[in-house]
Amino acid sequence: MQTSFPENKAGHEWWRSAVIYQIYPRSFADGNGDGIGDIPGITSRLDSLAELGIDAIWSSPLTKSPQKDAGYDVSDYRDIDPLFGTLEDFDDLVAKAAAKGIRIIMDLVPNHSSSMHPWFLEALASEPGSKERARYMFRDGKGENGEVPPNNWESVFGGAAWTRVTEPNGELGQWYLHIFDSSQPDFDWTNPEVRAEFESVLRFWLDRGVAGFRIDVAHGLIKADGLPDIDDNNSTMSGQPKDRAKPHPFWGLEGVHEINREWRKVLDEYQDRAMCAEAWVMPLSRMATWVRKDEYHQTFNFAYLETPWKKDSQFKVINESIKEFSAVGAPATWVLSNHDVIRHSTRLSYDKVPKQGDGIGPDYEQPNEELGLRRGRAASAFMLGLPGGAYIYQGEELGLPEHTTLDGKFREDPTYFRTNGERVGRDGCRVPIPWEANSPGYGFSTEGKSWLPQPENFKAYARDVQTDNPGTTLELYKSLLQIRKSHELGHGDLVWKNELIAETGLCYQNGDVMVVANFEGAGLEVPAGEILATTQVGLTEGDQLEADQVVWIKI
Ligand code: GLC
Ligand code: CA
Repeated sequence: MQTSFPENKAGHEWWRSAVIYQIYPRSFADGNGDGIGDIPGITSRLDSLAELGIDAIWSSPLTKSPQKDAGYDVSDYRDIDPLFGTLEDFDDLVAKAAAKGIRIIMDLVPNHSSSMHPWFLEALASEPGSKERARYMFRDGKGENGEVPPNNWESVFGGAAWTRVTEPNGELGQWYLHIFDSSQPDFDWTNPEVRAEFESVLRFWLDRGVAGFRIDVAHGLIKADGLPDIDDNNSTMSGQPKDRAKPHPFWGLEGVHEINREWRKVLDEYQDRAMCAEAWVMPLSRMATWVRKDEYHQTFNFAYLETPWKKDSQFKVINESIKEFSAVGAPATWVLSNHDVIRHSTRLSYDKVPKQGDGIGPDYEQPNEELGLRRGRAASAFMLGLPGGAYIYQGEELGLPEHTTLDGKFREDPTYFRTNGERVGRDGCRVPIPWEANSPGYGFSTEGKSWLPQPENFKAYARDVQTDNPGTTLELYKSLLQIRKSHELGHGDLVWKNELIAETGLCYQNGDVMVVANFEGAGLEVPAGEILATTQVGLTEGDQLEADQVVWIKI
């Protein structure tokens, strides 16, 4: 395979500083005109990503799936879903991306399978107590006839986390646990067969040349012994009990670390591979235990993602992140958007945002698009100068807003259905992205089709109208990423220089680059120096930095 990856030096491994671009495959680029993005679509657009200046792509699941939760319900962990292409298409993507210096990271979903996975079908066809059932979490119900679920846990998507099955003899019988949708039964990770299976799946993809894995729900695999009731169900991924001293019965249990270590050993047998945990464990000091040196390489910094665009909060979360991650020898990571949260260029326009995963629908107070874009660009520019790794979610390099007026009839997120529309869910951040302003479907699909309708305001954000157009969000991202790379900011150190600027702002130095943000007020005097990049169109030396604007200066 022809690759152009630089050599890894100890302490300077690629994943310590990588900018990783998240593709949500059904909404990135459609290569065969059916209105759903696919692997050939991704491959055909690799040049745009190389131009953007990313180091790796993480794609949300491409594996075989009934698509009840957009691929996070896997029915075959060793094959590609025909919706997205074939294993050959995948190999071709890995090779073509490598030739451009871009690594491919798989999304692995080990907490649960699809209810159409052969193992689950076997479990349904087998008796209670059988070894087939023991791969999942089947339990008898409570109540006189077992009609009450085994405990009171709620699904993250709403409703009970248990579904009752009809036994092979035709009678109502046991219940199975699903922390997510009923189409996503949880595995029993105390079962050695489950562990062996996933080790083999890891090897399957590592042997195929993937650079590593983003591990789905990496904090949920182990459930508390006896599956005790929970005092305060709150259906969030961090599920923080009101009383923090009390352990949660399925988020962030100690036993998960043993699995982390087993996987790390497997990855260490290969060269230059990395795994990143989706672990919503707060606070940061706990999150950092997921990236101790024999566990994950990286973990998504959700504490940072959830921080408002406020001076004091930003200062605090950045300090805490660097402190906690470096205490365990891991790089900090930075992330503002992904396929589960409201796009940050919309989210940051609100004082109070809906809970993670709830989304914004037509009945919710509508966002201030202009303010959101300004803050979104500022937050990105403030983030991309920080040392460590960074994640970009497809479309954010365009400044793309959330679709906040999507009609219920188009929605697909199980959250919407499991809560009878009360929580509209995550479809608003998953709308196919615009490539060409004047093509049907904004160039997303060869036939102009799109599995979720694109709002009209997407036109102004299309990639072609931003390309080579100074001042656009796309050109801003390109220059930030280029400077980040050439000045090795990912491997740098942060030193605060707030004393150099007015109180309304924050200022840090990383290597020979100084990053200044102004959070409020009329304007802020910028320290002297060559302007390398800025969110404030037309800013020149000596000008004031307005509110919600950022500038990078060479010192
Ligand atoms: C993760 C994914 C999310 C999915 C859930 C269940 O949180 O990011 O999209 O719905 O896990 O697999
Ligand atoms: Ca397609």
